[in-house]
Amino acid sequence: PKLLVVHGPNLNRLGSREPQRYGRATLDSVNERLRGLCDQHGVSFQATQSNYEGELIETIHAAADSGVGFIVINPAALTHTSIGLRDALLAVEIPFIEVHLSNIHAREPFRSCSYLADIAQGVISGLGAEGYELAVQAALRRMVGQQN
Ligand code: DQA
Repeated sequence: PKLLVVHGPNLNRLGSREPQRYGRATLDSVNERLRGLCDQHGVSFQATQSNYEGELIETIHAAADSGVGFIVINPAALTHTSIGLRDALLAVEIPFIEVHLSNIHAREPFRSCSYLADIAQGVISGLGAEGYELAVQAALRRMVGQQN
């Protein structure tokens, strides 16, 4: 089984980007923790980040072709704008969990709207990097039926 974690625009700056809001952990350190969780369950782990909407869409298409069974995605700013990303996830029919480091409902009103939330298996928002871990644990349970 394969799990893909997708990070959207500006998340390559994690650790130095608004650390009071998004935390000090770097994207690499977050990904390494997630890889460890997947390793424990014999699930192959892939993580990707892009600042380009089209590249993220193509990554999601490729995920379907390579047999990815579950996606954990922080679409970042594209959450609030991208019908294209929504359509890509609908097209591939890969179940996914949406993650946000910050609580998008406690910020500017435009962040409360997500183009993906209603088609997600679930949404985790406001728990920082822990949210990714919780999402990956939930994904693993659903992929391999294991309690962890
Ligand atoms: C974010 C929230 C988005 O509104 C914002 O554009 C981001 C990060 C989060 O993880 O809290 O880039 O997805």
